[in-house]
Amino acid sequence: MSKTAELHYNGKIFKLPIVTGSENENALDISKLRGESGLITLDRGFKNTGSCESAITFLNGEEGVLKYRGYSIEELAEKSTFLEVSFLLIYGELPTQSELDTFTKDITEHSLVHEDVRAILDGYPSKAHPMGVLSSLVSSLTAFYPRSLDPNRSSEQVEGTIIRALAKLPTLAAWSYKNRVRQPIVYPKNHLSYSANFMQMMFSLPTTDYKVSPVIAKAIDKLLILHADHEQNCSTSTVRVVGSSHASLYASVSAGIAALWGPLHGGANQAVIEMLEEIKLDGGDVDKFVAKAKDKNDSFRLMGFGHRVYKSFDPRATIIKKAADDVLTELNVVDPVLEIAKKLERVALEDDYFKSRNLYPNVDFYSGIIYRALGIPTDMFTVMFALGRLPGWIAQWKEMRENHEPIGRPRQVYTGENARSYVDIENR
Ligand code: SDX
Repeated sequence: MSKTAELHYNGKIFKLPIVTGSENENALDISKLRGESGLITLDRGFKNTGSCESAITFLNGEEGVLKYRGYSIEELAEKSTFLEVSFLLIYGELPTQSELDTFTKDITEHSLVHEDVRAILDGYPSKAHPMGVLSSLVSSLTAFYPRSLDPNRSSEQVEGTIIRALAKLPTLAAWSYKNRVRQPIVYPKNHLSYSANFMQMMFSLPTTDYKVSPVIAKAIDKLLILHADHEQNCSTSTVRVVGSSHASLYASVSAGIAALWGPLHGGANQAVIEMLEEIKLDGGDVDKFVAKAKDKNDSFRLMGFGHRVYKSFDPRATIIKKAADDVLTELNVVDPVLEIAKKLERVALEDDYFKSRNLYPNVDFYSGIIYRALGIPTDMFTVMFALGRLPGWIAQWKEMRENHEPIGRPRQVYTGENARSYVDIENR
């Protein structure tokens, strides 16, 4: 395999090095391209552009492979727990029992947030979308932990910020929901597991403590594992770029939450349920909606379908689809939109428009159905995605800082006006 490529341009030959990763992916290193040739590259949406070298997550879109630090998502979803996977992503190895116990204890003991956060929360109207509230509450953590503002401080300081982010996000997420439903906030309980604690903060009331069933806690934990990282997706790239300016971890994660909110990204899980509900209300004619999705004059898209990287099944969708069946059966829940989702999937996967574009169900297509069955309201679905993705954002931010990556600052091709002189207003 040649280790260089040649670019023939303007009568000159430029040699560009080839970088090969540990899974034999090859990339053209264009770090010196502009300096040597005057050329930059143009790649809308970075569809063909690598932003970094990373050792955290590996995807093979053609084969539907997803691995966290070399371990397959199938094995981790089956055998691991969300906190163990979080440790793996952030520190690179599966923890020993004592490492996991310490990690869990530290997170448990930092799950409270400063009482002044309540004053910020009280400022939000009940119709505020929980993702907007969560993004701002995470950013407000810089006010309560000002030493977190300097990510170049001691490694102990950075480690403390990482633990606090993992510990406090479930609390802030549950409080964003309580604000939405105008119920009193619920404090964390240290004797509960990460997922169970989150659910009791979501659904306990002053009159009744929410009892988390083991089925629900396990389903939530599995969903969080499946969302934990996904290499350089939109929100993770946002976290990296914001962090590359040496902004704090909290500021970077707050920006990542904002990016995840979009319906083309993490917001798709909410959009999928809204789409399935629309199909149900319209009489359940999935063929009509598949036709709309194919019509270039119709802005309707099949939410939960398609992916920038996966050109075959999203392995997470396969796991979540089975989990949806299991959870609904175990909870004895019959959800008509599940049948609509399965019919929609069947029809779309037989249709040449979707097959020719390699459009398959992605992680968001079935996740909402489980969240609904677990009693989580629709506009909290993307908050669930953020909870899961947090360790991935942290791991990627930490790797970017440890690799001393330069500030992210792309170039452009200017297409505006050429030089012209100022014209006084009376002459315009
Ligand atoms: C996530 O990157 C990640 O890893 C993200 C994620 C993660 O874990 O971080 O996996 C999570 O964001 C999953 C994706 C959730 N989004 C949705 O489900 C929204 C619906 N999907 C699409 O909008 C779209 O498929 C994207 C955004 C996911 C991918 O868009 P791309 O890669 O930019 O592809 P594209 O928009 O250029 O589409 C290529 C073609 C186009 O048709 P042509 O121009 O070739 O005729 O496929 C069509 C698109 O019109 N197409 C769809 C479609 N998705 C793509 N047509 C109908 N319905 C769809 N859902």
